[in-house]
Amino acid sequence: MVRYMVTSALPYANGPIHVGHLAGAYLPADIFVRYLKLKGEDVVYICGTDEHGTPITFRALKEGKTPREIVDYYHEQIKETFGKAKIDFDFFGRTEFEVHYKLSQEFFLKLLENGYLIKRVEKQAYCEHDKMFLPDRYVIGTCPYCGAEGQRGDQCEACGRPLTPELLINPKCNICGSSITFKNSAHYYIKMQDFEERIRKWIEGNSHWKPNVRNTVLGWIGEGLEERAITRDLNWGIPVPLEEEDMKGKVLYVWFEAPIGYISITIEYFKRLGKDEEWKKYWLNGYEGELKVIHFIGKDNIPFHAIFWPAFLIGYGKYKDEKGEFKWALPYDIPANEYLNLEGRKISTSRNWAIWVHEFLDEFPADYLRYYLTAIMPETRDADFNFEDFQKKINEELVNNLGNFIHRAMTFVHRYFRGIVPDQGELDELDKEALEKIERAFGRVGELLSAYQFKAALKEVMDLANFGNKYFDYKQPWKTAKEDKVRTGTTINISLQIVKALGVLLGPFLPDASDRIWNMLNLNEKKEWKFKPLESGHKVNKAKILFKKVDDEQIKNYLKKYFPALLEKYFPEELQKEEKTEEDEKMYVSFDDFAKIDLRVGKIVSVEDHPNADKLYILKVDLGSEIRQLVAGLKKYYTKEELLGHYVVVITNLEPKKLRGVESQGMLLAADDGERVAILVPDKEVKLGAKIH
Ligand code: 2FM
Ligand code: ZN
Repeated sequence: MVRYMVTSALPYANGPIHVGHLAGAYLPADIFVRYLKLKGEDVVYICGTDEHGTPITFRALKEGKTPREIVDYYHEQIKETFGKAKIDFDFFGRTEFEVHYKLSQEFFLKLLENGYLIKRVEKQAYCEHDKMFLPDRYVIGTCPYCGAEGQRGDQCEACGRPLTPELLINPKCNICGSSITFKNSAHYYIKMQDFEERIRKWIEGNSHWKPNVRNTVLGWIGEGLEERAITRDLNWGIPVPLEEEDMKGKVLYVWFEAPIGYISITIEYFKRLGKDEEWKKYWLNGYEGELKVIHFIGKDNIPFHAIFWPAFLIGYGKYKDEKGEFKWALPYDIPANEYLNLEGRKISTSRNWAIWVHEFLDEFPADYLRYYLTAIMPETRDADFNFEDFQKKINEELVNNLGNFIHRAMTFVHRYFRGIVPDQGELDELDKEALEKIERAFGRVGELLSAYQFKAALKEVMDLANFGNKYFDYKQPWKTAKEDKVRTGTTINISLQIVKALGVLLGPFLPDASDRIWNMLNLNEKKEWKFKPLESGHKVNKAKILFKKVDDEQIKNYLKKYFPALLEKYFPEELQKEEKTEEDEKMYVSFDDFAKIDLRVGKIVSVEDHPNADKLYILKVDLGSEIRQLVAGLKKYYTKEELLGHYVVVITNLEPKKLRGVESQGMLLAADDGERVAILVPDKEVKLGAKIH
């Protein structure tokens, strides 16, 4: 039997999870694993938070917190969100585990011992103002490959290429905005060119990979692989395990150690189960039987999983223990998804254009989100989350088709047979077709899931429900009940067989609905991925409504609360209505108008004189997710020193305006009594970017 190790990308513990993350790397993996488990396969599903690197330190800096505070908070927050979304990991760990430090350092030392690392002193990006090296995300500039502006020094969001700060065109310090300089620093580089041939051959042999993944990677390898630094000048992370003077205070690069987290978290998982050696079965080739490691990721993670990670695994050489020497299992598959957009625009955490999963699940059931995201899953091309489409799919497909069919079958067995599954009489062609359809659905849905075709698999399940409705309409049990009890019994029996099959088939996609169907059918048996007919004579429980319609009011309330920008698109009459009342009562500002003003807490990070105006300062204000430039007439009232580090409240969506030739991208709030001017501040510390209501 094949043993499966399934992983989802380890999310950075620096912010909440949005629907794009969920649709990319977590939901497909969860569906896949639930399916394998229903089939009785040996599978372990591992994930955890990625807690090092500049994604963490940068966030900590912006929020005025320590990296530890950030990772501890978001580890718990993310874990809870996955729980709400019913993503059922066997274990959700973190890269702050001790075992992870140990294993990552071991990988580093093995690569060094095997001659794949080389120490070099190279020029590294440095900020004279902040007095620090600027690795990865600390530098922002133009991508040298595709020309996209505003890209961070670790990876281009537009073309997906891994970057280094030194490659960026027109690089700027991402903390203070000033130009960067370069300073020498020693680092260890992995000689990727040594792996080029082996990795190319290996990928060429992986003809079962998704074409989007395989082709992208082969394209990059075709351009040649180069040395890449795997250590960093950063005060947070896993120390370089060497006593060398020039390695003091340096840490391993996060993209070197994060994938090792898949293994270390598995080790921790089994250790906690008291089975210390068990992890080896899931990571070492030939340790015990056949093994498939499958990494579910979003497309931006492709180069790291398909090129660098396999190089680390190969470069380690053989893992030795008392049982022998074993090679690490290279990824069997890397089914990366494309991107999910939101209402036609790219999801952007910095522009707050995202549906945060924890917020969405406060308003709608997990099954609804899972259903919709699966139905539009960006498997082969980018997809779009659209509220109208969401409402339509839930109402027409989940409620009118699936929920309706199950409800009809369940109410009829109570109405005519006191809740007892009736016997099957003689089967006609249509009855037989129904039973065949059930059998076929298990095979077909299974095949599609094995091929990561989640959208098509879900459609297949829904087709069975649709068939159920048609069958029911055609057989008209409400009519036959009057003259032919046996015929009616057969109809209800077959309908309930479909209900039971749906109870299993929906399991991977909609775990809550699946469990509720099981309860309604009053079944204690374990669900299995095969058709085991309901026995006649079995008593079922009362019918319950599985899904309720999403009405306009719910969508409207959701948008009001989280997406006022979309109200105009979906509920223009709502805005007009309010405009009218505004006309009548001019002295009031409607709440919606007030809500349109985006007020945020920020912190002044730089103050400069305006070159052409005596009264104005040019301020840079950190809003947590971005730095804004404001021009403010504060010179008369504040010195530069007083302003630097000062908290402020900023209107962030005011039309940008040029003041004496310098653009102001917002306005800060201040009180003015005619004599003195005082900047408004929150009365206790809150996160930068906090919204003001
Ligand atoms: O892109 C990300 O969010 C990374 N934290 C993914 C890491 S996946 C793995 F290698 F750990
Ligand atoms: Zn690019």
